[in-house]
Amino acid sequence: MFRGKGTVLSGFLITFEGIEGCGKSTQVRLLETRLRGEGYRIVATREPGDGSLGEGIRDILLRRSSSAIAAMTELFLLVADRTQHVREIIRPALDENCIVISDRFGDSSMAYQGYGRGIDLDFIELLNNRATDNLVPDITFVLDMDAVTSLNRSQSRLMQQNLFEKEGRFEEENILFHQKVRAGYLDLARKHTDRIVLMDGTLEIAVAAQRIWNEVHERISGHHVLSGETEI
Ligand code: TYD
Repeated sequence: MFRGKGTVLSGFLITFEGIEGCGKSTQVRLLETRLRGEGYRIVATREPGDGSLGEGIRDILLRRSSSAIAAMTELFLLVADRTQHVREIIRPALDENCIVISDRFGDSSMAYQGYGRGIDLDFIELLNNRATDNLVPDITFVLDMDAVTSLNRSQSRLMQQNLFEKEGRFEEENILFHQKVRAGYLDLARKHTDRIVLMDGTLEIAVAAQRIWNEVHERISGHHVLSGETEI
C-alpha cells in the first residue's frame, strides 16, 4: 500500500490543557491549520461537548443556573461525556491513523474536579482509565498563566459574546478555585514530564505556536510518520 506525505501510522493524540482564558483554543486552531497544511489528516475536537451527548452535558455543566450541581455529579457528567467522546470520535479517528487534537481531556478532570474541587485523584484517574480504555495522549500542552489575568480574559470574552448566563458557571468560581486548578496543572506537569509540555501562556501567540509546532513535529517525525511516497 502507498501512503502519501504526512501519513501518521497508528494515530497520534495531542491534548491542550489549562485554566480558562489561557489561550489554548487559539493554539488548537493554529496547530490544526499547520498540520493540515503539511498534509496530515486531522480531527480537532473538544471536551466537554463533542460526543453525541456533549451539547446536553455541556449545557448542564456550564450554565450559571446549574450552581447546585454537586462536585461528584459534575465529575460523573464529565466522565460520561469523555466515554462517548472517545468511543464516537477519538478512537475511530486514531484507528484511521489520523492526528487527533483535543481541546481538554482527562487532565481537566484531574485539575478541576481533583485539585480544584478536592475529589480523590486516584479515583478520578481510575474513572478516566475506564472511560477511555486507558487511552493516554501522546503529548499534552499545558498553557500556564496567572489565574487572575486568565480569568479576567475569559470573563470579558463571555460578556462580549453575551455567553455569561449560558457558559459562565466555572468563570464564576472564586479566584482560589482557579489558583488550585492552576497549581494542579503544574503538579501534573511535574509528575508526567515525558508526556506534558508546560508552556508559558503569556508568550506571544506566534511564538507559542512555533514552540508547539517544534515539539509536535519532532515527536511525530520520530514516531510513526512516513514522508514522501513510501511503500508499506
Ligand atoms: P469551555 O467553555 O469549553 O471553556 P474552555 O475554553 O476554558 O475550555 O468550558 C469548559 C469548562 O469545563 C472549563 O471551565 C473547564 C471545565 N471542565 C472541567 O471542570 N473538567 C473537565 O474534565 C473538563 C473537560 C472541563
